[in-house]
This record gives sequence, structure tokens and C-alpha cells, in this order.
Amino acid sequence: MEAAGKEEISVEDEAVDKNIFKDCNKIAFYRRQKQQLSRRSTYKASLDSATIGKDSTKFRIINETTKVPLLAEIYGIEGNIFRLKINEETPLKPRYEVPDVLTSKPSTVRLISCAGDADSLVLTDGKGDLKYHITANPFKIDLVSEEEVVMSINSLGQLYFEHLQIPLEQRATKENKEDTSADTSQEDQDDLGLWEEKFGKFVDIKVNGPASIGLDFSLHGFEHLYGIPQHADSHQLKNTSDGDAYRLYNLDVYGYKIYDKMGIYGSVPYLLAHKLGRTLGIFWLNASETLVEINTEPAVKYTVTQMGPVAAKQKVRCRTDVHWMSESGIIDVFLLMGPTPSDVFKQYSYLTGTQAMPPLFSLGYHQCRWNYEDEQDVKAVDAGFDEHDIPYDVMWLDIEHTEGKRYFTWDKKRFPNPRGMQELLRSKNRKLVVISDPHIKIDPDYSVYVKAKEQGFFVKNHEGGDFEGVCWPGLSSYLDFTNPKVREWYSGLFTFSAYQGSTDILYIWNDMNEPSVFRGPELTMQKNAIHHGNWEHRELHNMYGFYQQMATAEGLIQRSKGKERPFVLTRSFFSGSQKYGAVWTGDNTAEWSYLKISIPMLLTLSITGISFCGADVGGFIGNPEAELLVRWYQAGAYQPFFRGHATMNTKRREPWLFGEEYTQLIREAIRQRYTLLPYWYSLFYCAHVTAQPVMRPLWIEFPEELDTFGVEDEYMLGSALLVHPVTEPKASTVDVFLPGSNEVWYDSKTFAHWEGARTVKVQVALDTIPVFQRGGSIVPIKTTVGKSTGYMTNSPYGLRVALSTKDSAVGEFYLDDGHSFQYLHQKQFLHRKFSFLSGVLMNSCADKRGHYPSKCVVEQIFVLGLRKQPSSVTIRSSDGKDEPVAFTYCAQMATLQLEKLSLNIGADWDVHVQ
Ligand code: NOJ
Repeated sequence: MEAAGKEEISVEDEAVDKNIFKDCNKIAFYRRQKQQLSRRSTYKASLDSATIGKDSTKFRIINETTKVPLLAEIYGIEGNIFRLKINEETPLKPRYEVPDVLTSKPSTVRLISCAGDADSLVLTDGKGDLKYHITANPFKIDLVSEEEVVMSINSLGQLYFEHLQIPLEQRATKENKEDTSADTSQEDQDDLGLWEEKFGKFVDIKVNGPASIGLDFSLHGFEHLYGIPQHADSHQLKNTSDGDAYRLYNLDVYGYKIYDKMGIYGSVPYLLAHKLGRTLGIFWLNASETLVEINTEPAVKYTVTQMGPVAAKQKVRCRTDVHWMSESGIIDVFLLMGPTPSDVFKQYSYLTGTQAMPPLFSLGYHQCRWNYEDEQDVKAVDAGFDEHDIPYDVMWLDIEHTEGKRYFTWDKKRFPNPRGMQELLRSKNRKLVVISDPHIKIDPDYSVYVKAKEQGFFVKNHEGGDFEGVCWPGLSSYLDFTNPKVREWYSGLFTFSAYQGSTDILYIWNDMNEPSVFRGPELTMQKNAIHHGNWEHRELHNMYGFYQQMATAEGLIQRSKGKERPFVLTRSFFSGSQKYGAVWTGDNTAEWSYLKISIPMLLTLSITGISFCGADVGGFIGNPEAELLVRWYQAGAYQPFFRGHATMNTKRREPWLFGEEYTQLIREAIRQRYTLLPYWYSLFYCAHVTAQPVMRPLWIEFPEELDTFGVEDEYMLGSALLVHPVTEPKASTVDVFLPGSNEVWYDSKTFAHWEGARTVKVQVALDTIPVFQRGGSIVPIKTTVGKSTGYMTNSPYGLRVALSTKDSAVGEFYLDDGHSFQYLHQKQFLHRKFSFLSGVLMNSCADKRGHYPSKCVVEQIFVLGLRKQPSSVTIRSSDGKDEPVAFTYCAQMATLQLEKLSLNIGADWDVHVQ
């Protein structure tokens, strides 16, 4: 934000100025919806004229006050998804329907009517157990499963739809003039912001007038809701009845306040609800400013005395009401009916895609700073990692590497030889990421500006000229990424010939793409700016960053002629951004509370499709003390995107600057990350193919255990590792909740074990990262760590086998070349399955379609929880030969260790423990 301009930063600037940003009461469409809803006008569906077609069922809904007809369309969608669209039947002009987010037109399943009359209609897809009961007056829909209502739509009568109107001054007749929104005075109308909305010195002129929409959903029996990132708040969504609604409006909020519902950099209008026995999702496909209210009515038991002579006991299930409100667009909502968390993930990914398969290097450690000053600085920092024997994969350059914040250029004084610098990094198997923001400096000598200007590629202001706003370079125009031609052209800027000084080890970081506009309202773009197709910015604000990342990822793919996987980090995002790369949580602060909140923030992103997410390690703003920095590295090593970053007025904080004791601690945390890379990579493959998040809240792995539903200081990585980062200063113990009454958990460092369904007090020293392996899992690791992932391609593997209470374990392993699309197009991959059962550890093929020759061996097998000393251990290879191997058994810790093995990771073999 502007206050964070290079020269302007001071400690005082670091608190968020809430006057810059709106709270709900300053949002006109919120006030209007609240006012109208208090008047309770109802909608009535004309079910007698419903048409039940192959794809959808359509009927009219009429507001009894305005009499304006709406058209409702109901779709059954493959895989237990239900879609409801509501639009004006005959709008004055088309209303915005979000394009480019759904991966394809969802396949519909025919809904048939199984009962109905003029007052109600019951639809079913004839397959699942769900029925849709539509009631005509007042209009509502109940989703019923096994005679129980799971969800109701509009049962609170909050359906709200402002129909487009002719502006007052254009209305010809007096009658029409009087038709305007109700019985409100001019003053009230101003306050309602129908055609004009004021905020501080800003005036939002609305040529299309009011166009807000809203709808309520009641979730019966549910009291645990999650999702709708991005907020710096708890993982479990809170009641909003006593404060602001959750706001989804992408904004650049430097040093955002934590435990707050204000909108920050990105928006995914999608939430999940969970209760014992069912998970479901609500995906509200709308890219305009959106507010979500949540209200949980607890379960009540009460005695009914008035109802008759006999007092009856009644129990009312708890219920959570979710009220979505958007500034414009149409109602287009997908209900993902689960029933399991895993089903909901698949359903959402069916609509919006899965996490892009990251190149392996991007799962290593990234070193960033605003800014690495020049080539010498880069060289010295790079060498520092080697000198201190700390692995890292990626060096990052922030805005100062450019010629005056002109992206795609290099500052000639500081970076005279960018190719040479990249060759140096390449020689160490490392990569470079540089920043590329969406604002383009207005400069007739800057070719990117000139070409975009000539072709009309900038967002326009409402008067038809190019939109101009201030950002890092000064006065700038903003590329209109919503235009496919602009995206195509922008993608082309990443070709090696166009981007002078770039090489194939250079990847991209998209920042400030909310978009951030320093002197704009709430530091963003005016809502009446105009995009391709003549759409106002208000319609699609939350998708702007999504489109930039899409174009960037496409550009990186194209420059490799379709061969290489891209890596693009974005600050702003929307539903579906997972297809294009990684997301981070923006400008956090070097305080313990921000370290702590990184966990729920990342969990929320993870369950809403964005598995590749991380928070700036160390905290972007301010100077972390050594202990905080160490704890942050330890946490970051176990979070999906792992990057150290710091703003420009902070002290340097490369891992070796705090004295040897701390260097050693940070080194160890980063080395643990590299040791676990095979597991991370396999988890990303699983996210890519099956949509299961990499980082998982406990409730996903233990959906039937109530105790897990509110846990957010620890989480699972895949289904095998439970991580409880230390987020308190001077901690000597942490209370770790180990879920699951049938589970056994092993401390990954001490190998101590505990049965599940308990909280254990674990001693922690500064070198402790509390990580527990779940009994029943097998985790593939690397036994040695190199300077970067590239050095580790051929290094040996180890398997960490943790036995369950039934003395068994399973695990998976995925491998490919780590960078190309050959895994996809040529099926060049290896997907193996490990299982331990009845004393036999088996390596077998998990996916026969894949082939990838690897000379790599498993050299070490470590079994935890082996209660009996084996008499022999033999290996049986695919040719049937048995070969005895030496082993070490520790009775006290119940561990078995096999060393110096040479078992090909891609071959079938068994290890017999007798
Ligand atoms: C804001 C980003 O959030 C931060 O990470 C970056 O360093 C600055 N912009 C400068 O580019």
C-alpha cells in the first residue's frame, strides 16, 4: 500500500489504517439488503409452469412487491453436485456471469420430478439419495437425504435480487420515474448508494444502478464451517451476528490485522460445512464484492408444555445459516453434497480444477528479500548458503531489479549481466524468480507500455481513456487481463527473445494484483473502470489477479514450447487459481501471533483447493528475534510453499546472520524439508490427481472425531504426519493433541509413541519441531541432502515405516523428471505403493500406466513399533531370490533399522521380517 512506499515506511505506518478500508456498514449494498430484508418481501415460485428439461429444470420466481420476474434454473451435476442459477428473466442488459473459472461445462444429470403440484415440486436424479423439495410460496428449496433435511435454501427469506433499472433521468414518463426503488427520500437514496456511493473522498458512480443479489442457506445439524479465504482469521468460521460479515474483496492490506474478517489479497467464495457423517460445500460463483454472514443456532432441548396436556420433550438440531450477498452479477451457486470431505474436494476440483503439479525445485527452500541489491549481493547470498551448508533452490528478485519498476527489464547498473547471474545459479542447480506486477509505467519510451497502449490493452476509465493509477513506478496503467488477447500478448512477453536477459531458469512472481492502486478507493481500482466486453471492474474485481497468474503461467509454458511446468507465485487469487501455481499470504509481520495465524490461514487455503500456499518466513514487516526466526523456519519447513522474505527497511536476516547456534537450527529445519521432499512431491501429485489437500486440518483425516473439528494449531501433512509447530516464545513444552482412538503416533525424533485420542505434553527445546508419524503409514524420504533439489535426483531413498496397532502400514511414492509435462503426455512417471503386512514390506506398482526408469535405490528402511525382535530379515527380489540382510533392532524403542540396502525404488521387491 501507499504508506509502504519505499521512502515512507516507518514503524508508525505499520498498523492497518482501518479508515482506508470499509467495514460492512460503509458498504451500500449491505445496507440495502439489510434494510430490505427487515421489510420481509417474499418471493413466490410459479411451479405450475416449471419446465423439466434434459439439462435443467426452469421456473419463474416473482417478488411480490416489485413483480419483476426472475428465472431459476436447477441442474443436477455429475458427482453429487447441485447447481442453482437465478437471474432476471429479461434484464435490461446482460448481467455478468463469471467466465473462465469452471474448467469445462459441467456434465449434467437429468433430474426427474417424483412428486409435485402447483405448491411444490420434488426432483431427484434417480441415483443418489438426495431429493430437492421446492416449495412455491414462499419460495424455498430443501435438500433432503433419507427423510432428513440437510440444507434449506431461502428458508429465511433472504433471497434478494435488485433488477437493473433505467437511470432516473432517462425515464420518459412520470409513472416510470416513480417506479424507482421504493418509498425512499433522496437523502435515503444517497445513503443507500443506489446510483452513487461515497467513501471518504471517493465517489463511485454506478451507471447500471443497484444490482445486488443475496441468498441464504440453512445447514441443518452443522456448526462447523470453514473456507472463504482470504482472511487473517481462525480456520473455523465464526458467528458474524455480533460484528462484521466476512468480506471477500481483494485488497492490498500491508501488515493486515489478525483475527479480523476484512478482505485481504484474494477471494475464494467457497465454504465447507462439516458434521459427523456429512461434509458439504457451497460454492458461490460470483467475482464482485461479496459478504458472507454466518450464524449458528445451537442445538436446544426443551419441554413443550403449551402443545397439549402431556409435556413433550423436543430436541432441535443445531443449525448454521449462511447468508451470501454480492454487489452484482447473478446467483450461481453450486452445492457440493459430499458426503465425505474427500468427495467434496473432488466435487470442487471437478468444477475448478486441481492444484497444478509443481516443478520439484519449487518445493525446496526459496530465499527472497526486498531487495537483493545487485549481482554481487545475489552471488554472495548464494555462496552463503553453500558456505553454511544450507540447501536452497531459488533466489528471488523484487521490484528493484528492474529499470525503474518497468517489468521485463533489468536495472543496468545493479544487474548488468542477468544471464551471467542466472548461469551462476544454474551451475548450482538453482533457479531465479523475478517479480512482474500488473501495473505498467506510463512512459513513452517503455516498449511494454507503448505496445499495450497502441493495442488498447489497458483497463479503461469510465470516460473511455486508459485507466491511470499510481503504483511502484508512479503513474501507471493496468493491463486488462480479462481480455484473452491481452493475456495472449502478455504470455508472449515471457518468450526468451521478448524478455531480454531471461533464461529457462527464470520463473515469475505476480504481486500487487488485487490490483493495488495507491491512490484508489481502498487502495484498489475504481469500480467503474471498464474492462474488455464493456464490463465494469465491480463485476470481476476479485478475478483480476486470477487472470494475471493464468496469463503468466501460460507464458512460461509457451516459452518452453509446451514442455516445461511453470512456477508462478501470486498474491491475489480466486477460485481456480490453484491451476496456475502458488499463493502466499502477503505482508505479514515478524510477530509470534502472525506465525501462529499462518497455520489456520494456510489450512483454509488448502481446503479451498489451493494446496501450494505459504506465508513469508520470518514475517515480512519488522525484525524477528532469532528465536522467532528459528521457529518460523521450523514451521515453514512443514508448510507447502517455503520462502523467507523481508521488506526493505528490515535488517538482513539470511539464515547465518544470527550466530552459529541459530544457523545450525535453521540449517536443520531446512534440511528436514529436503529430507522429506519425496513425501512432499508425492503429496502434490495426490493433490494434482485426486484433489486431496497437501496440508490438512485434522477434521479431514478424522471426520468422525468431534474433538478434531476445532483444532488449528496443528495439522496433517497428507495422512501420515502430524505437525504442531511451536508458535510461542520460550516454549519448553507444547500440548499436542493426538487424534484417533485406534491410532498410535510416533515422535519422529525420539520415536516415543502414544496411543491416540489424547493430548500429550511434549518437551521442546529450541531444536524441536514437533512432528509425529501416524501408525499405519510409510513415508518416503531422501537419506542425504544436497545443495538443492537438483543435486538430489540420484541420491538414495529411505522408508520410514510406522506400524499401526495392527502391525501394518501403507504409503505411496511418486516420481517423475520433476520439471516437464512428460508425466502427463508420455506417462513418464513412477507411482509405487508400499505396504507392510504380516511382517512383509512390499514395494509394488500403484499405477501401471506410468513408466519412469530410475536408478535410485532405497538404502535404508526404518520400522517403528516393531514389538518383537526379528530372527531374520530377508529380501526377495522379483526374480524370487532370497537374500538375508543385517539389521539392528532396539527392543526398548521397538525399532528396526536396515542400512546399506540397494533396492531399486521402481522395482517390485519384498522385505521379510521374521
Ligand atoms: C508487496 C508484496 O507483498 C511484498 O512481498 C513485496 O516485497 C513488495 N510488494 C514489493 O514488491
